Amino acid sequence: MTPKATRIVLVIAAFIVGVALFFAASLLIGGRAGPPPVAAIGGPFTLVDQDGNTFTDAQMKGKPYLVFFGFTHCPDVCPTTLFEVSEVMRALGDDANRAGALFISVDPERDTPAALKDYLSSFDQRVRGLTGDPAAIEATEKAYRVYAKKVPTQDGDYTMDHTAIVYLMDKDGRFVRPFDLKRKPEDAAAELRRYL
Ligand code: NI
Repeated sequence: MTPKATRIVLVIAAFIVGVALFFAASLLIGGRAGPPPVAAIGGPFTLVDQDGNTFTDAQMKGKPYLVFFGFTHCPDVCPTTLFEVSEVMRALGDDANRAGALFISVDPERDTPAALKDYLSSFDQRVRGLTGDPAAIEATEKAYRVYAKKVPTQDGDYTMDHTAIVYLMDKDGRFVRPFDLKRKPEDAAAELRRYL
């Protein structure tokens, strides 16, 4: 495998191990008396959207939505995901206005609201781009159990390794399951529609 492929495999493996550990832990906790464990993935966040406005999880209340993490300098995975999510939004038609999709930057240093706005202009306008100060981004990554790491490149620049899972959240902001984009947009849209 190329070093890049190896890194991608490592990122995926780290995520799977994390989720497995979490479910194992919640089984242990669930076996005891007491309140059920709180939501596994997701949670409150306060970020800034591509128009420079404060954007919180409360603004998605009442809508099912997709959440995924990435960065505008991403060479392949992010643009592909954004394209596929845009296709789902298109397939949803007017129902897309009752749902949503959030692209959260793992690279707030370079992804200013203006950079996000420019980048997202090539995709469905219902995809909101979110960035914020590094601490707020880090807290959001933690809430979603996202792995993101800066990796220097040979030219002195850097790229980001990051989890490429797309999360399906219900209208109460609870994580449902990873969302499968590797199918017909109409089929993916039908799944999202069930949570409207
Ligand atoms: Ni990416």
